[in-house]
Amino acid sequence: CTFADKQRVAADLGAAGAIIYNNVDGPLNGTLGDPADARIPSAGVTKQVGEALAGQAGAEVKLDVQSRLETVTTRNVVAQTRTGRPDNVVMAGAHLDSVAEGPGINDNGSGSAGLLETALRMGGSPQTENAVRFAWWGAEESGLIGSTKYVQGLTFEQQLDIALYLNFDMIGSPNAGYFAYDGDDSDAVGSGPGPQGSGQIEKDFVAAMAAQGVELEGTDFNGRSDYGEFIANGIPAGGLFTGAEGVKTEAQAAKWGGTAGAAYDPNYHQAADHLGNIDRLALERNAKGLANVVEAYSHSTEAING
Ligand code: PHE
Ligand code: ZN
Ligand code: ZN
Ligand code: ZN
Repeated sequence: CTFADKQRVAADLGAAGAIIYNNVDGPLNGTLGDPADARIPSAGVTKQVGEALAGQAGAEVKLDVQSRLETVTTRNVVAQTRTGRPDNVVMAGAHLDSVAEGPGINDNGSGSAGLLETALRMGGSPQTENAVRFAWWGAEESGLIGSTKYVQGLTFEQQLDIALYLNFDMIGSPNAGYFAYDGDDSDAVGSGPGPQGSGQIEKDFVAAMAAQGVELEGTDFNGRSDYGEFIANGIPAGGLFTGAEGVKTEAQAAKWGGTAGAAYDPNYHQAADHLGNIDRLALERNAKGLANVVEAYSHSTEAING
């Protein structure tokens, strides 16, 4: 089911006076969060539902959803430059899947396309100091499965070879906000700091977008997209985001344009997330920011890892 379904279930349970115990980034009582269950929300969504429910006092409820789904195989696409140090890899990723409810053009054709354009322009053998590894993830919408399995499938040595990870999930929202993940915890979004170096990545995105006259804000760095398993394993990370179901404030509309009081992406996870509802200026700006930052790190990650 979708996040909206889960919110409805949550609201119904809440109205019935229930508390659901949610161990935040893990399963709800063991079953709902099983990675084999294609209906599960991302860890962040699970957390949100848990928090929504925690606000509703009453009795204890056990959520025990049995999984009776067929098994499907999905794949990540991973490509790395032939050039550059393979022990100091700059990694960048975007999820290629979408929800069943819509075509998923902003979520996440936008990030996938921006990343593909950068990869194609760099080519297979760019003159770089560090190898660049591009990933297009599968099964993000089923619970960050592709990226999580990828990181967990690496040896500790292989994880150490990744200097940093950059994530692009929704970069052309029709009522665009301009955000970087809050790696330095300076933006009071409450998600806490990321692994050492994540704050510098945020600053580098801020500078790359400022060069285009766009002032970024920090946004939750709580694991609601494919960078989650990277930061869980201590790999510095960052990324760009133009907003999902969150609502644009008056101050943001004054700064960035668009409509205050409306969602950044009113079509989030819906049928209208199609090509006619992309903010092409936001996509262009973010694609340039993505390209600039990937290119810069391909030459040096010293500011991040020393
Ligand atoms: N991962 C969410 C999705 O694909 C979107 C999202 C990206 C939310 C980044 C918050 C931050 O639906
Ligand atoms: Zn999504
Ligand atoms: Zn997404
Ligand atoms: Zn910040």
